[in-house]
Amino acid sequence: TPVVTVPELSLVALVGASGSGKSTFAARHFAPYEVVSSDACRGMVSNDEDDQSASADAFGLLGEIVARRLRRGLLTVVDATNVTRDSRAQLVALARAHDVLPVAVVLDVPVSVAAERQAARPGRGIDRRVVQRHHDQLRRSLRGLEREGFRVVHVLHGVDEVDAATVVRER
Ligand code: CTP
Ligand code: MG
Repeated sequence: TPVVTVPELSLVALVGASGSGKSTFAARHFAPYEVVSSDACRGMVSNDEDDQSASADAFGLLGEIVARRLRRGLLTVVDATNVTRDSRAQLVALARAHDVLPVAVVLDVPVSVAAERQAARPGRGIDRRVVQRHHDQLRRSLRGLEREGFRVVHVLHGVDEVDAATVVRER
């Protein structure tokens, strides 16, 4: 079974298309406050987790929360797609600013699986083309994650590896 090792004090960036199972993975392996979700932040600033026009405020809030947690020495998981280089650069910078190791955990599930899961979630407003775009962005991202500054990169290939994975914290 895949073992995802993370330093006890780290910033863990989940990377995966909408519907890839990031929030499910985060809830299974981390405590509630350890997970900072862009959707939750969108909801807090706009009342609507799907309001894409609230993204700038949502990511501003997310960065604030992450920074304050890292300053307090708390492991923090960022539950957002993180499929773009710019989104990840913000996280690497936050980790560096707080002397914390940035870790990437990639949920590389087939685009068909992510799209079907999204289709089964009414009102999410995320269609197949968006999931496909996330998937393409993720694919192009894979090789460069270390170069972007992630000190540990775990890639979980397929639903089986994502489901079987365990998370181990290391001192
Ligand atoms: N799901 C599932 N089996 C899994 C993982 C997820 O059936 N092993 C379902 C979840 O219950 C949810 C959907 O697939 O209804 C999407 O999973 P989620 O963890 O919410 O995916 P995210 O990557 O967090 O999607 P988003 O980026 O849209 O938040
Ligand atoms: Mg989610």
